[in-house]
Amino acid sequence: MGALIEARGLTKRFDSFVAVAGIDVDVFRGEVFGFLGPNGAGKSSTMRMIGCVSPVSSGTLRVLGMDPAVDGPRIRARLGVCPQENWLDEELTVRENLLIYGRYFGLPRRTLADRAAELLAFVQLTDKADAQVADLSGGMKRRLTIARALVNEPEIMLLDEPTTGLDPQARHLVWDRLIQLRQEGVTLVLTTHYMDEAEQLCDRLVVMDGGTIVAEGSPLDLIRAHATREVVELRFVAGRQQALAAEVADLADRVEVLPDRVLLYTQDGDAAANAVHQRGLSPPGILVRRSSLEDVFLRLTGRTLVD
Ligand SMILES: Nc1ncnc2c1ncn2[C@@H]1O[C@H](COP(=O)(O)OP(=O)(O)OP(=O)(O)O)[C@@H](O)[C@H]1O
Ligand SMILES: [Mg+2]
Repeated sequence: MGALIEARGLTKRFDSFVAVAGIDVDVFRGEVFGFLGPNGAGKSSTMRMIGCVSPVSSGTLRVLGMDPAVDGPRIRARLGVCPQENWLDEELTVRENLLIYGRYFGLPRRTLADRAAELLAFVQLTDKADAQVADLSGGMKRRLTIARALVNEPEIMLLDEPTTGLDPQARHLVWDRLIQLRQEGVTLVLTTHYMDEAEQLCDRLVVMDGGTIVAEGSPLDLIRAHATREVVELRFVAGRQQALAAEVADLADRVEVLPDRVLLYTQDGDAAANAVHQRGLSPPGILVRRSSLEDVFLRLTGRTLVD
């Protein structure tokens, strides 16, 4: 079966600046697909081209088998879009935001009223139906934006940083709802900066950096390919990291020195930790943990802040 979203050499230029530099992506029906990457990587630019609100500069893009340049409105009718910024109508009530959005899709009034009630229950905003959007918390606005994206019963949901800025409770509620949508067969495409989110939600993901794709696979594939099984975090007294890192370098596949820690990337964390002790180094803090997607991400995109 063909991909629902198929990009080949997809490129976005803003004048001479290349924001997306010729990426190839396939998203299949029913999967949760993630775009990860640091600020400015080109995630939103890619999402906006898929969402048919930003024209493709070069390369090819097919969404639901159609070309956004020709069939933008027909594609948009089958997409749900949750942009990075909420763009809600702050003056209107929660319910009115859903009703007005639904009218763009030509839904009959009766259907729309039922749909709005269902969606408000789905994102736990029933109590707030008649509140003004301006009075909602950040988490509530995000949930309303997600509900709004579902008004037209989309086949594909595009979620640009669905949980950025949310507190842990609100994040978990959003995750829960996204998992429910996936179970109902909606294809989800999301961007995130949160590695735990990507690890939990995404079937497949790409890591973008500087407009290109630097890695691709399932979270587990990426950890296997780009990180060791375990990591030992050694907290030494400040200022001594560099010297101590040299003393333990042979105990790991790779050593990384951070301002407050030395990281040993190894297949067997306990063995490496024991060896550190046997050398009489006894760091004040030592932690053995499994590698995470965050280790992969930092390795691929670097720890240096880009902007
Ligand atoms: N309308 C625009 N005009 C000019 N440059 C733009 C425009 N939109 C984005 N850019 C630039 O393109 C690059 C990629 O931006 P984009 O918003 O796609 O990144 P992102 O991966 O979504 O980042 P973030 O994680 O911060 O949301 C950035 O350098 C940005 O400044
Ligand atoms: Mg963005």
